[in-house]
Amino acid sequence: MDINLLTVPIMYGCDRNGAQYGPKKLREKNVVKTIENQNHKVYDFGSLFIPEISESEKYADHDHIKYLKSITNINNNLAHLVYNSLNSENFPFIIGGDHALGLGSISGASKYFENLAVIWVDAHGDINTEETSPSGNSHGMPLAAALGVGNPLLTNVYFDGPKVKPENVYIIGARDLDEGEIKLAKDLDLNLYTMDKINKIGLDAVMNEVINSIKSTNIDGVHLSFDIDALDKSLVPGTGTPVEGGFSLEETKKILKDLLSTNFVKSMDFVELNPLLDENDTTADLCIDLINWTFKYLNNFLLKNA
Ligand code: ARG
Ligand code: MN
Ligand code: MN
Ligand code: MN
Repeated sequence: MDINLLTVPIMYGCDRNGAQYGPKKLREKNVVKTIENQNHKVYDFGSLFIPEISESEKYADHDHIKYLKSITNINNNLAHLVYNSLNSENFPFIIGGDHALGLGSISGASKYFENLAVIWVDAHGDINTEETSPSGNSHGMPLAAALGVGNPLLTNVYFDGPKVKPENVYIIGARDLDEGEIKLAKDLDLNLYTMDKINKIGLDAVMNEVINSIKSTNIDGVHLSFDIDALDKSLVPGTGTPVEGGFSLEETKKILKDLLSTNFVKSMDFVELNPLLDENDTTADLCIDLINWTFKYLNNFLLKNA
């Protein structure tokens, strides 16, 4: 499979210095070679342009969404690159940066696919809006915006309106949801697999349920958005919002393997590495291990499922 590597060195969505260095760190760790060694051709398109905004201007566009206009512009550009990648039958692999970029990836994939599904593997739901967000950080908002909920500048990125239907959204691993997020997930009836639920029914059952659900509809493409804070806090010192009670390395690999082996996943985000918070590169090395694993199981020659 031919891979379009797109990197997005942003920290405007998490407002924490260091997340912008994720792509540089993973390139130093030979991420391109890692993917190539799993028998894929890699087109490294480098990093998106990120405008320089001073801290003092973070609320210039909105009083509770930091760096709103830059986030909108970056996502708009990313969406178009993802769309073009899919159009040329390549697999877009998007390395962050923080999770605010998920909106752009989904938007590009949504324009390409008739009936897109999104699998969001994360300790968080990232379904806040300007009203429910405790932080004003837009990396907690991309999935809501993709569902058409929240500030119009975000919900109308790339093209106006929702990018994915609620019944096509699967959240796996959530264990730190804000009040408004719990309410929205309920109101929209999202497929929400919290850590509590996973511990109750078991990861095997969850993965079977998700995969069978996707296979039983006319979904023609899946975007997988992978936030490394899905893993347990103890395993990922190099991420900005780690949460206890997360997945082990083995469980994470099972999730990736199960999803990638379906051939439904057509694009993927890999986000929230913060090298400045890392301890002796443990998180960066773990990222390389997971990326190696991902591309071992990606074996996906047809792009649009008939
Ligand atoms: N729910 C919190 C917020 O809205 C944390 C979000 C963390 N998101 C992430 N992509 N790591 O601020
Ligand atoms: Mn996230
Ligand atoms: Mn669509
Ligand atoms: Mn997260």
